[in-house]
Amino acid sequence: MTNDKKMLIGMQIGNGYGGQATAWMAPNVDPHNYTDLDAHVRYAQAAERGKFQFLFLPDFLSQSQKSDGDAPSLTMDPFVTMTAMARETKKIGFAATASTTFYEPYNLARILKTLDVVSGGRIGWNAITTSDQASAANYGAQIADRETRYARAHEVIQVVQALWGSWQKDAWIADKETGIFADLSKIQPINLQGQYVASRGPLEIPQSKQGQPVIFQAGGSPHSLALSGRFASAVIGATFTIEDSIRQRNGIRRAAEQFGRNPDDIKFFAGIMPTIAPTVREGLDRRGRFVEPSIRQRVGYLGMMLGLSLTPADLDHPLTARQLASARATYEDPRSEKALEIAREGWSVRDILYHAVIDYHPSPIGPAHLTADHMQEWFEAGACDGFWFTPDVYEDGIDTFVDEVVPLLQQRGLFHCDYEGDTLRDHLGIEYQYGLREEESA
Ligand SMILES: Cc1cc2nc3c(=O)[nH]c(=O)nc-3n(C[C@H](O)[C@H](O)[C@H](O)COP(=O)(O)O)c2cc1C
Repeated sequence: MTNDKKMLIGMQIGNGYGGQATAWMAPNVDPHNYTDLDAHVRYAQAAERGKFQFLFLPDFLSQSQKSDGDAPSLTMDPFVTMTAMARETKKIGFAATASTTFYEPYNLARILKTLDVVSGGRIGWNAITTSDQASAANYGAQIADRETRYARAHEVIQVVQALWGSWQKDAWIADKETGIFADLSKIQPINLQGQYVASRGPLEIPQSKQGQPVIFQAGGSPHSLALSGRFASAVIGATFTIEDSIRQRNGIRRAAEQFGRNPDDIKFFAGIMPTIAPTVREGLDRRGRFVEPSIRQRVGYLGMMLGLSLTPADLDHPLTARQLASARATYEDPRSEKALEIAREGWSVRDILYHAVIDYHPSPIGPAHLTADHMQEWFEAGACDGFWFTPDVYEDGIDTFVDEVVPLLQQRGLFHCDYEGDTLRDHLGIEYQYGLREEESA
């Protein structure tokens, strides 16, 4: 089939290994990739070969390593990593996470706009609030209540965007004949004073090829929805069912409308963490390697999801007819329905867990068409505008997706065959923006 509207694809890039905590131990992976920017660059280039619209760099401001056997889940510093990747790619966009709670707007405005200019307009900023005490401790601070965190976030984004617009579009003359470098009357202070942050400006950086960076947001609370509706052009989501994803996407679109915006100017991305292999069995065995180190804890949790008492002794058997008759998906965990569905197919408890039923996002496992089918079903149901894809292992997981899933999506008319333009705004199909929009400055 063909379809006018194409899905968008972003890819998560964290630590240099992959989305699974023990990806650093996978065959062919150099366990020192954490500090190797060449490896990150290779992964960015592989994603660009697949024509992905952007790379998404998550970030938290505290220790991410949870046990001796896990690698840190984040890159050492997203801005530095992003700079290296942008220098070695030509088209793909980037969205780096940076906290509105702990960074000052002038710092954010400066570093992000610099990156946007030097990358040729390919940068986005995932503007999140920070709610974690360990991060606060790294700034000698305490976490404020949610009202305060979000009030500050609104101010930070306003000040950042105002600073971005403070060097007017036509201020830069660079004329050797007249000796005028830039017209200072067009590079003026913003003099913004909020309750939490302030900045005088101006910011001494001209517009980028796309004007200024694109605002992304990620979060789940009503506060985060209002922040997205007012400022964001893209929202990174976490949804486990089509129904929930439709609900979240509609909520975000409504929030944008409430701020006088066109809902098509805000794109919602559902997460997906596939493991692609020639057969389902090979996929389960590949994914299972990442499940094994914590399988004893997971089996108890699976029992909770299904309302059963499960122990490691149950691992190598399917659920009995009696267990299946009394199993119930708990509403406390949105992944439980899927776990129950897989249990009913007769897999052993170990294989149910190998299906990644306890992971951060839906995880199709097996031949590439299963991932393509999942993406098609969600996209055509209006559950998302696209996906942010987390490979299990970057070293081979990106290439497999690019070589096997992307062509299927293209043949089905669901994904573009080449970049439509040069900037992240071109890739996302959103408007040029410079400085604050009217509805952002209220
Ligand atoms: C899919 C997704 C990805 C996220 N990525 C990050 C991230 O990389 N860094 C971060 O600090 N918060 C991230 N968040 C946001 C936090 O989960 C949370 O919303 C934030 O800490 C603010 O919490 P609050 O909304 O309770 O104030 C993400 C949220 C979602 C749904």
